[in-house]
Amino acid sequence: MRKISKKSPALLRCRSLLVLVLQMGLILCSLVCAWLLRFEFQVPDPSLLWAAAPILIVVRLMVMPFFNLTHGWWRYTGISDAVDVLKAILTGSFAFVVIVRYGMGLKTFPLSIYVLEALIAFTLLTGVRVLSRMLAETVRADSTSKRLLLVGAGHAAQTIIRETQEVETGYRVIGCVDDDPLKKGLRVLGVPVLGPVEALANIVGQQRIDEVLIAIPSATQTQMRRLVKTCKEAGAAFRTVPEMAELIAGRVTLQQVREVSLTDLLGRIPVDLDLESVREHIRDRVVMVTGAAGSIGSELCRQIRTYKPKLLLCLDQNETGIFHLQHQLAQNDGDERKVFCVADFCNPERMRKIFLTYGVEIVFHAAAYKHVPVMEANVEEAVGNNVFGLLALLNVAQSSNCATFVMISSDKAVNPSNVMGCTKRVGELILAAWPGERLRCVSVRFGNVLGSNGSVIPLFQEQIRQNQPITITHPEMTRFFMTVSEAVSLVLQAFAIGRHGDILVLDMGEPVRVAELAKTLVRLSGKSRQEFKFIGLRPGEKLFEELFYPDERVFPSACEKIACTESVRLAWPALKRGLDELYVAMSIGKRASILAQLKQIVPQFTYAGCDRAGSAENGPLSPSVSDAPQAAPALVDRPELPYRTWQVDPWLGPAGGGPGD
Ligand SMILES: NC(=O)c1ccc[n+]([C@@H]2O[C@H](COP(=O)([O-])OP(=O)(O)OC[C@H]3O[C@@H](n4cnc5c(N)ncnc54)[C@H](O)[C@@H]3O)[C@@H](O)[C@H]2O)c1
Repeated sequence: MRKISKKSPALLRCRSLLVLVLQMGLILCSLVCAWLLRFEFQVPDPSLLWAAAPILIVVRLMVMPFFNLTHGWWRYTGISDAVDVLKAILTGSFAFVVIVRYGMGLKTFPLSIYVLEALIAFTLLTGVRVLSRMLAETVRADSTSKRLLLVGAGHAAQTIIRETQEVETGYRVIGCVDDDPLKKGLRVLGVPVLGPVEALANIVGQQRIDEVLIAIPSATQTQMRRLVKTCKEAGAAFRTVPEMAELIAGRVTLQQVREVSLTDLLGRIPVDLDLESVREHIRDRVVMVTGAAGSIGSELCRQIRTYKPKLLLCLDQNETGIFHLQHQLAQNDGDERKVFCVADFCNPERMRKIFLTYGVEIVFHAAAYKHVPVMEANVEEAVGNNVFGLLALLNVAQSSNCATFVMISSDKAVNPSNVMGCTKRVGELILAAWPGERLRCVSVRFGNVLGSNGSVIPLFQEQIRQNQPITITHPEMTRFFMTVSEAVSLVLQAFAIGRHGDILVLDMGEPVRVAELAKTLVRLSGKSRQEFKFIGLRPGEKLFEELFYPDERVFPSACEKIACTESVRLAWPALKRGLDELYVAMSIGKRASILAQLKQIVPQFTYAGCDRAGSAENGPLSPSVSDAPQAAPALVDRPELPYRTWQVDPWLGPAGGGPGD
């Protein structure tokens, strides 16, 4: 790391004095040498020399400050310093000639001495700077510096080599590897190109390399994966430099070397979609994103704005998050209109006002409570927000001009083992059964989003930074992963192709072992070793997530990377009955009865003690039972509910009855 040395003012004064004396000595030396050379080492009359010497020294020292040559930071010297020395010499020589010949009238002073002295003075004053830089670099490159091998010998490599040579980074670049045959045997700022990338494993062994740095910011994903694989096989710790845009934005330093690219962790090529079809669906429409301050919501806002909506309405209850989003979207501002709303989507009065004021046409519902362990301990909040809040929002959308409602679901909704996952499944069932004709409801289901709020990556990165053991629940635990931009692109695509009631599932490739992901992260973070601690499954956590229910039929959709599922679809009246009962359980506020009601709606839901609590008296909802139209319970008879979330009857739409009733 860059070390900033703090020196006392006395020490700095002492150094300036030393620099002054040394430069005086060199100027005197250059004059004496010029005389000796001019008279072939037999000086006829030295009195002329001694008369001119003080004048030369004074002139040169007086000129130097104008060219910033009095500081002693010679270890950072470069071409610009040499140019400054040249300018100072020429200016000083001119003044010296004028003073000696015309001021002092010493016409006998040999003309060749002026030239010779200037040449020697330039050589000495530049030479001493170069020498001290070389000396500083040798001292810096001591045995405590890490031995670094660069992959790539281009512009980024040059910058990094210069950085290690100029600043105390704790690294010494030993060499580069590069596949370009023209660079074979080349030296980049004195650092040799040792061979092609294939030779990396051998070079790492032979040169006792501590760390490999991939210095190809323009590498494509395929190239990057190949390089990462080669580094892994070589068994070396490795890191990568930032991408080209970041490099262009500023000078790359070893401090800026990015620890890891999330796409490097995917183990597959990120999905690249042609989103042109999305454009026509979004252009000139009023689009609302709920949960806009969250990881997925904010990326949705970023991508949606590029499709030129008539109005982008970013809504979240997190005021600080909205503040940051507003700030981010204000940079590279486009011409689209944006509105930032701090609002709770469970509040139908507020939402109705917003829908009517702006005429919302499309809703991307990314707001939810999503943290599994937190929701296990806050069942009522989970159900209130993710189920009844969703219902209230759907009601508002239904009664306004809204045409499409897309809800972000999760793979945790499949055979849920936790409350959060179960509420997501109830959400999917609600959207699939929603009887409104004008409102197209689509659910999009996917797995873990790398780097999203609360994801394992920031946690692992922090543990790596702090040299703490990496905590993993189980060595065999796997998860489906995708990047946030991938997830959002697919959500947008799903929005474009989804039909009413569809549950669309994004192709996330093969599941990745979390322990393997952590190991890759350790390597990409430049560490060679890290302790792992397996802490066991937390409440509600599963070893493996699934993307589909066993009885779900899976069809291809218009997009290769999106599958459409079809399972038993509950009829709205049956689902409504289950939701009514859940609503009543919520009002009583007993965890066990809420869980039991959830299980009645989602029979696959498993939770601790579910055999007892889960045997819902009425049995699970079935399509056959529910097909018969059923009247909603008399809502007015319900007890007054204590929390704001459920104060508003989710069933009371503008028409006064349940949707579709
Ligand atoms: N992150 C993942 O790995 C992942 C994977 C699959 C599905 N999902 C789903 O995607 C959605 C978004 O996930 P995320 O990672 O962006 O979560 P996040 O926590 O980063 O964002 C959620 C946002 O919703 C807001 N919110 C919650 N309740 C609200 C309310 N009542 N009113 C207004 N705003 C409210 C929060 O303030 C937060 O900003 C969630 O539904 C989540 O279940 C996430």
